[in-house]
Amino acid sequence: MTGPRSLSGESGLTPGAAPGALNCRFEHESPAHGRAVSGAGGLSSSAMTDSPYLRATAQAYDAVAGRYADFVRGELAQVPLDRAVLAAFAEFVRAAGAGPVAEFGCGPGRVTAHLRDLGLDVFGVDLSPAMIDLARRAYPDLSFEVGSMDALDLADGKLGGIVAWYSIIHTPPEELRSYFAEFRRVLAPEGHLLLAFFESEGGPVTVFDHAVTPAYRWPIDDLAELAREVEFVEVGRMLREPREGERFRRGHLLLRG
Ligand SMILES: C[S@@+](CC[C@H](N)C(=O)[O-])C[C@H]1O[C@@H](n2cnc3c(N)ncnc32)[C@H](O)[C@@H]1O
Repeated sequence: MTGPRSLSGESGLTPGAAPGALNCRFEHESPAHGRAVSGAGGLSSSAMTDSPYLRATAQAYDAVAGRYADFVRGELAQVPLDRAVLAAFAEFVRAAGAGPVAEFGCGPGRVTAHLRDLGLDVFGVDLSPAMIDLARRAYPDLSFEVGSMDALDLADGKLGGIVAWYSIIHTPPEELRSYFAEFRRVLAPEGHLLLAFFESEGGPVTVFDHAVTPAYRWPIDDLAELAREVEFVEVGRMLREPREGERFRRGHLLLRG
């Protein structure tokens, strides 16, 4: 593998190349070393935090935002099972009619826009100001805000749905319960939560060398149990085997508030 910042060129990958291969690169490449982790990089006050991992995550995604957006552009069109999960989530949310939907950790906003296309009233939140800039430029009809999903400036029960699409993957396992508690707080009782993550395929929770910043693979049962502990009810789950160029099985959990 080339250096951690080389997100194109190797194996002939260029922006717009096959999305499976792009995913592969974002799973495979080693995290950057020696990255400074000072400063909140323009985070809104609601997201201001002293947490080093949040600052590191924001800075890491700021540094690759444009390349990340190029690499994931068009990916959903290639992955019918991912679209199926998102479509099922949208159907549950529309049926419950419990309020707007937030994509937490929206990155460049492509999943937010997909949810909009599925008929949802949706907005995006992300730690990375550079990601939010890109999302706003790409989808000016949608609302995107800088913030952290563990400290939301949202009223209790405000949301009809939450999607966290590969965005809890960077959260240290011991912090995740408080994230789920925050999701539970802002979600209406009939609201739905959809999680997408890297599944650990029989192993324990494991940290791995995600291209941008360290990430965790979770056993789907453990994540479902953690959600149950903060009173989410499981609606269903989907495991997708890695496509060509991907390293890990993908996990999806659909939960009700
Ligand atoms: C792998 S990217 C996924 C982006 C987007 N969901 C997509 O699929 O294109 C993970 C994103 O989660 C964001 N993120 C990580 N932790 C976060 C937190 N605590 N609050 C908000 N965003 C967070 C990162 O800044 C990054 O943009």
